[in-house]
Amino acid sequence: MKILIVGGGGREHALAWRIANNPSGTRHKIYCAPGNAGMTGVAEPVAIQATDVEGLCAFAKRERIEYTIVGMDAPLALGLADRFASEGLDVFGPKKAAAMLESSKAYAKRFMKKYGIPTAEYAIFDTYEAASEYIRKSPMPIVVKADGLAFGKGALVCKTQEEAEAALRGIMIDKQFGESGNRVVIEKFLTGKETSIMTFCDGEHIVPMVSAKDYKNAFDGDIGPNTGGMGAVSPSPYYTENDAMRFEHEIMLPTLKGIKAEGLDYVGFLYFGLMLTDKGPYVIEYNARFGDPEAQAVLPRLKTDLLEICKACNHKSIDKVDIRWDNKESACICLVSEGYPLKYETGFTIEGLDRLQKEHNDALVFFAGVRAGDNGFETDGGRVIGITCLDGEGLAARKAYEAASVLSFAGMRYRTDIGPV
Ligand SMILES: Nc1ncnc2c1ncn2[C@@H]1O[C@H](COP(=O)(O)OP(=O)(O)O)[C@@H](O)[C@H]1O
Ligand SMILES: [Mg+2]
Repeated sequence: MKILIVGGGGREHALAWRIANNPSGTRHKIYCAPGNAGMTGVAEPVAIQATDVEGLCAFAKRERIEYTIVGMDAPLALGLADRFASEGLDVFGPKKAAAMLESSKAYAKRFMKKYGIPTAEYAIFDTYEAASEYIRKSPMPIVVKADGLAFGKGALVCKTQEEAEAALRGIMIDKQFGESGNRVVIEKFLTGKETSIMTFCDGEHIVPMVSAKDYKNAFDGDIGPNTGGMGAVSPSPYYTENDAMRFEHEIMLPTLKGIKAEGLDYVGFLYFGLMLTDKGPYVIEYNARFGDPEAQAVLPRLKTDLLEICKACNHKSIDKVDIRWDNKESACICLVSEGYPLKYETGFTIEGLDRLQKEHNDALVFFAGVRAGDNGFETDGGRVIGITCLDGEGLAARKAYEAASVLSFAGMRYRTDIGPV
């Protein structure tokens, strides 16, 4: 089959790798737009930006792409799935209206409230003055969030009135995230452990994947600024069977009920960001796609053909597919540029990839911010490489760290505390 994957990071590399390495050994031609230079072993990069919906649509028609999987949020919010469907192109990913579960936090909160899904108490504001007055009357800590997409940087946990006021100004007055900050959601701070549950949804049925935990903060011990993710493990060490049962009954199935009642026809990955509170699991947010780097931890455990699962979703028959997982646990360590997620430099040669292949051939390497340079691959972004290992005896993270230790580039950094608690 001719397949197009939309996005260019480690998640998209993992999606392409999982489809290329399928259980029946079927060979596919996989393109990835824009992709990156590191993924050429499984997918051919295409120089079209992920948000260039018209460009992607023209490419899919010209190349007779038979199936498209969208990895990123922005093209879904722009209506890529609607546009492709209007051309009769098969696509995995929700239409614009359904992707609003991610692309508008206000929409998602109202949806959760309407369908009785546990989530933090909240208020929504369209003006700075009203939001500011609400902050002055609220007990701290509090969470201030831009309504729209903000590259994972639009939600700020604030401990003081001053911090909350500054966050609000940044979003609504300085327009740090542009139009995404025309509206804010302000919510009560929840305490607990975070866990990510990705699901396959076909609009009629929903099936959870194995759990995962991502590591958001830049530094060990969950200190420092939030990043796109410094690593992930699967399963989540905190997610109990009781949590799973409560998640299914109190969150996942009510979400499906809402999806049906609202006529959203949601076909795609649906991600639940959970806070495991002492009152049970609460939803922090939905994502209309796989998490990154959760994909790099979860997909290596998937034993059933990913493409078959996705296609079953298009036929509303995901309930008929026997989805199997490897019992081994996984860990993904992200190697990042010094300074990430703030300012960093790029263009440094990545050393040790040959040695990695020879000495750690069971380590999976997922490339993100990487380009071809004069001396091999060089860095081209904040998150550069993710290394995933699987293990049945609790050593996945240790193995991933051992593999990571043979790689280097100027300013390379990673968290050293990813793994079992
Ligand atoms: N109500 C809340 N209580 C506690 N922490 C929160 C809350 N909402 C968000 N957070 C923290 O902020 C992070 C980002 O918030 P989220 O809603 O997931 O926005 P985004 O991922 O779009 O930036 C969460 O992963 C969590 O750590
Ligand atoms: Mg989030």
